[in-house]
Order: sequence, then structure tokens, then C-alpha cells
Amino acid sequence: MRKKIVAGNWKMNTTPAEGVELFKGVAALKGEVCPCVNFIVAPPFTHLSQIVEAAKGTSIAVAAQNCAAEAKGAYTGEVSAKMIASLGVEYVILGHSERREYYGETSATLNKKMEQAYANGLAPIYCVGEKLEDREAGKHFDIVRAQIEEVVFNLTAEQFAKLVVAYEPVWAIGTGKTATSDQAQEMHAFIRKVLAEKFGAAAAETVILYGGSAKPGNAPELFAKEDVDGGLIGGAALVAADFIAIGKSFPK
Ligand code: PGA
Repeated sequence: MRKKIVAGNWKMNTTPAEGVELFKGVAALKGEVCPCVNFIVAPPFTHLSQIVEAAKGTSIAVAAQNCAAEAKGAYTGEVSAKMIASLGVEYVILGHSERREYYGETSATLNKKMEQAYANGLAPIYCVGEKLEDREAGKHFDIVRAQIEEVVFNLTAEQFAKLVVAYEPVWAIGTGKTATSDQAQEMHAFIRKVLAEKFGAAAAETVILYGGSAKPGNAPELFAKEDVDGGLIGGAALVAADFIAIGKSFPK
């Protein structure tokens, strides 16, 4: 049985005080959800430490939204994987389309970030996904395959075992437009097939999350699909009750 994960990507939202409140709201409602569902929250860097503290004893894991490509040194404004891991953070989101699009992250950058993450014991949540024009041109499978081959294929088997993948079609992120559950399943199955080409049977265990306007209303249909193992949630993760409702959306 693959792990079920619901991860909340808070993006550049919440002050530290608001973040702690949001976290407490999630923690207070978590008991309503099957313990088989693993929750992760990814607050901004400024409150990682406070959220890790608040998360003690809750079994909710904490992720960073990014990490530096370099280990340390003269990189003003960057935050290293070592700094993040030293706080007790377990995961790091890498390759989010907003990072690729607005901050020019390429596969070369992401290979370095992955290396830093693993070297410091952080498990990456690696995001892939095509833009609308790619899908309309029928190139979505090629784009996603390249995003996997250029980065994930460089991992060792041991590293791969800790990887979480998130399929986030760029046209569905924050747009209110969700991929249909069939579109999600088709791509998730494809991703698993590509992963199996390199890592064999281990790919059957890889958690592949769907992201892009997932919310309580559409999560049950998405999570009912065989290769959809949960969600990477943006907007709906900012409302504790919605985030928890998404956690309840796995088939019984
Ligand atoms: P969204 O964001 O749920 O607001 O569409 C998802 C994501 O970007 O991770």
C-alpha cells in the first residue's frame, strides 16, 4: 500500500502569528481524519521554526517551499538545506512551477537543490507539470517526461525511495480550473511508468500527489483514482477546515 499524503503549500501567505493559528486549526481537526493519511504543511521560511515547534506531538510533518542550490556562502537572501533541516523540517518542495516560471529554475538548478536536500536528510516533493500551451500542442507527456528524466533519473535508488512527486498542471494552479480525474490519472500512470523505466518495481511505491485547484469538492473524485496518492494543496490549505476535508477525501 502506498502512503497517502495531503500536503499544504502555503506559498507567500500568512505572517508567523497567522501561520501558527492556521496550524493549530489543522491540528485541532486532524483527529477527524483516518490516521492512515499523512499531513504535511509547508509554511514560509520565516515561520518554519515556530511551526515545527507547534507540530511536536501532532504527527503533522513540516516542509520548506524551497532551498538553496549551494551548501553555504555568499548567496545573499538564500536559505540552505542544512539550515532548514537543522530546524527539524522533514521535506522540501522543489521544482514548483512558480519557481521554474518566476525564478528561472531549470533542471540544472534543481539537480543541485536535490543534491543539497538529500545531503541534509530532507525528502524532496518534486513538482512536475505542463503549461496550457504544451497540453494544447499535445506535448504534455514529453514535457513531464523531460522534467523527470533530467532530474529524478540522477537519483540513486536509495534517494529515490524517499522522493515524493507532485503532478501540477500549470494551467490548473490557482486558476480554479482542475484537471479532470481522468486527466490526472492518465498523467499519474504515465509518471509511474517513466519512473519504473529507471527504478523498476520501486516506482510502484512512489507517492504521486495531484496539485492544481484541488479542494474539498473535487478531491474525492481525484483521490479515487488508482495512481493519485493525495494532493499538494495551495489555496484550500489556507483554510483549516478545507484542508482537513481534503484529508477525508480518500476512498474508504
Ligand atoms: P492551488 O495551488 O491549490 O492554489 O491551485 C497548488 C500548488 O501550487 O501547489
